[in-house]
Amino acid sequence: MSKIAIIGGTGLTSLTNLEIVNRELVHTDFGEPSGPMTHGLLAGHEIIFLARHGYGHTIPPHKINYRANIAALKDAGVEKIIAVNAVGGITEKMVPEALVLPDQIIDYTWSRINTFFEEGLTQVVHIDFTNPYCEELRQQIIKAAEVAGIPLIRPATYAATQGPRLETTAEVKRLESDGCDLVGMTGMPEASLARELDLCYASICVVANMAAGKGPAEITMEEIDKNLQKGMADVRTLLEKVIALL
Ligand code: HPA
Repeated sequence: MSKIAIIGGTGLTSLTNLEIVNRELVHTDFGEPSGPMTHGLLAGHEIIFLARHGYGHTIPPHKINYRANIAALKDAGVEKIIAVNAVGGITEKMVPEALVLPDQIIDYTWSRINTFFEEGLTQVVHIDFTNPYCEELRQQIIKAAEVAGIPLIRPATYAATQGPRLETTAEVKRLESDGCDLVGMTGMPEASLARELDLCYASICVVANMAAGKGPAEITMEEIDKNLQKGMADVRTLLEKVIALL
């Protein structure tokens, strides 16, 4: 079985069903990752867990060292990454607590370091990103969700915004007219960096709130936390099933 990592986002700073073996502090050529690599057993299989925002959830989306996180996992011999991302729901089916498996991304982020290929090159590198997520891993997640009886909405287009603020109503209208179903702040450049290092990467999104202007009221952190708690319970079950089936 190939070595698997899980990158947990808001609402998933630890995996309660992970039997921890050890925590390893690492350094990469691109700096420090968000926190230690947590090596452990999930469903009896060795995995690595990394908390994207740090274990105390203190690193905001635009300050995450995405390159160090992906490089650290590559250095650890990881071949597949399942990312978990909290999102706002834009289109009809994307209701709070729902789990969604996106198949496309539009990147609206700016000024983030978004490539490994910028210095000391012998040749300019352009990766193919037609299909930003690893289809093999997506299919494995779909199968696991079916076996576990967990509804998983797909396909969907993920809008990656800069944050850390949430969007305006007009911005969400624009994202919707661009064809986006979900909006989150951490999907990029994580996905393209993983592709640059040839890692098979897919994302399970949890809808934390209706995106700005889509719900009846303003978005509160209490609402986000409450919905994520419920959605992440399903994510933990789904991750265990995916790992068991891989
Ligand atoms: N917008 C952007 N990122 C998010 C949201 C949102 O509404 N909810 C959770 N992460």
